[in-house]
Amino acid sequence: MDRTEALESIRENVENENLIKHMLATEAIMIALAKRFGEDEAEWGLAGLLHDIDVELTGGDMTTHSKLGADLARDLGAGEAIANAILCHNETHGITPKTNLEKALYCADPLTGLITAAVLVRPDKKLASLEAKSVRKRFKEKSFAAGASREQIAKCSEIGLELDEFIVIGVEAMQGIAQDLGL
Ligand SMILES: [Fe+2]
Repeated sequence: MDRTEALESIRENVENENLIKHMLATEAIMIALAKRFGEDEAEWGLAGLLHDIDVELTGGDMTTHSKLGADLARDLGAGEAIANAILCHNETHGITPKTNLEKALYCADPLTGLITAAVLVRPDKKLASLEAKSVRKRFKEKSFAAGASREQIAKCSEIGLELDEFIVIGVEAMQGIAQDLGL
């Protein structure tokens, strides 16, 4: 499976454009993390791109979310490493992320939400002018974008990243696809 096929499948299974943008943002951060650690960029990117492909199909049911996604990824021809990363990004299943790919997806997922929220409160609503330090400030405001789990984002420590660097990587990765994100 290549990226084009993954995107086609996403288009077939997801209507919400914001959800698609979230998956694109996660993909961008996963590719940046793979670069940072010398990992497989295509593999890590696909895990990010596909991770929420089942959200609409499962209707928000967290007991099936990501199980179906992992199956869909397998059906598309993604390897077990990707399927497992998708499976355990939803902690409802109680499967602790173990590989670096699994851990990276687990902490990258909520970072996209925090960064997007930090952009949307800016006057120009543009990623280009967003500084990592303002995201860092927002990180400490517990009520700001409360859905973006700080605990989960902070798990970047498990892949050997300080929070500050993780946020810089996330902001730069999303700035790189700002046009696709409409931000
Ligand atoms: Fe997600």
